[in-house]
Amino acid sequence: MLSGRRIVLGVTGGIAAYKAVEVCRRLVDAGAHVVPVMTKGAEHFIGRTTLSALASEPVQTSLWDEASPIPHTKLGQGADLVLVVPATARLLGAYAAGLSTDLLTNTLLATRAPVIVCPAMHTEMWEHPAVQDNLATLRRRGVHVVEPDEGRLAGGDAGKGRLATPERIVAEVERVLGPRDMQGLHVVVSAGGTREPIDAVRVVANRSSGKQGYAFAAEALGRGARVTLVSTVELPVPSGAAIRPVETAAQMQAALDELAPTADVVVMSAAVADFRPVAAATGKIKKDAGVPEIVLEPTPDILAGLGAVKPAGQTLVGFAAETSDLIANAESKLRRKNLDLIVANDVSAPGVGFQHDTNAVTILRAGGEAVIVSLTDKRAIARAVLDIVCEIRAGQGSSVTDTAV
Ligand code: C5P
Repeated sequence: MLSGRRIVLGVTGGIAAYKAVEVCRRLVDAGAHVVPVMTKGAEHFIGRTTLSALASEPVQTSLWDEASPIPHTKLGQGADLVLVVPATARLLGAYAAGLSTDLLTNTLLATRAPVIVCPAMHTEMWEHPAVQDNLATLRRRGVHVVEPDEGRLAGGDAGKGRLATPERIVAEVERVLGPRDMQGLHVVVSAGGTREPIDAVRVVANRSSGKQGYAFAAEALGRGARVTLVSTVELPVPSGAAIRPVETAAQMQAALDELAPTADVVVMSAAVADFRPVAAATGKIKKDAGVPEIVLEPTPDILAGLGAVKPAGQTLVGFAAETSDLIANAESKLRRKNLDLIVANDVSAPGVGFQHDTNAVTILRAGGEAVIVSLTDKRAIARAVLDIVCEIRAGQGSSVTDTAV
């Protein structure tokens, strides 16, 4: 997704500078051309060699000793994005005040590319009105801010100010630079396995981790969509997604019945229990009362219900997790549940489906060619599926908001 994009990575002098190395590696892995710039302060925390070795070019630090006579304008003009990881209070202050004191601040003032700053500092500094005022000024000017997390800080302290995770920072880069082909769409994604109560403490559950659903949410956000996640799991929510926590199939159905009618795209990646106990016992079933008989009943097929009332212009995506007859089963579900697309995976294959970070799928679409995606990370699976969703929608000229009224 970042292939060929030129990113100036500014690193300033905070202890979190070492995490910029991981961000750099991930950006390069995603295909970006990373141009590293370090401040004098950053050199106290990480070596130039480390960043030079991992970035696409050697580190630059000075306005004066480069081969190019005007590196600050060259760097800023050639960039698709300037990213500052970490951004210290000093850097934010200088940038907000328009002070060009070093190569990085010069570059920030000279560029017209989007800028993302990722502040990291002690809580007292983060909360200081001067820092917050500077951030407000930068935000007003269109600078993207990846807020710090709460957590352990240098020197044994804890609080807000810890640099955002590399995942969040890279997701923001992808969001800012990504293809905006889902802009204006509302995408509803279900994720995780449902848990159906047996009694006050026990549940009927399954092995779904929710990772594939969260990858769909992150990818759709990156492409400009508004995303609502209906989720049974507690993974970090991709920034910008709305979250509806649910536990049972009945709760998931209620949430989807409310959200789906106006959604442009529904991705049903949750593993919904097919059976649930007819009634949950009140309290905990006691062991000494003998082996209990648990009577099961079928859950409603949520996806089939959505397919039956699918509004014109909506793209409905289902999943088929199979251990045999993958394609035949998936094709039958595609038709039976009135889907536009079904993502079929053989969950008995190594590295595929439940709990893994990777997946391998066959994507089938109504009246279209099958697309095979071999073993890859779940974000790449989401990308391949949403590519086809966008292709289908472009062919239909779809919009629920246009056609459903
Ligand atoms: O029929 P099967 O359970 O294999 O279908 C899988 C697809 O149907 C998945 O997209 C899953 O989220 C959905 N499903 C559902 N409600 C159920 C069972 C499955 O929405 N009760």
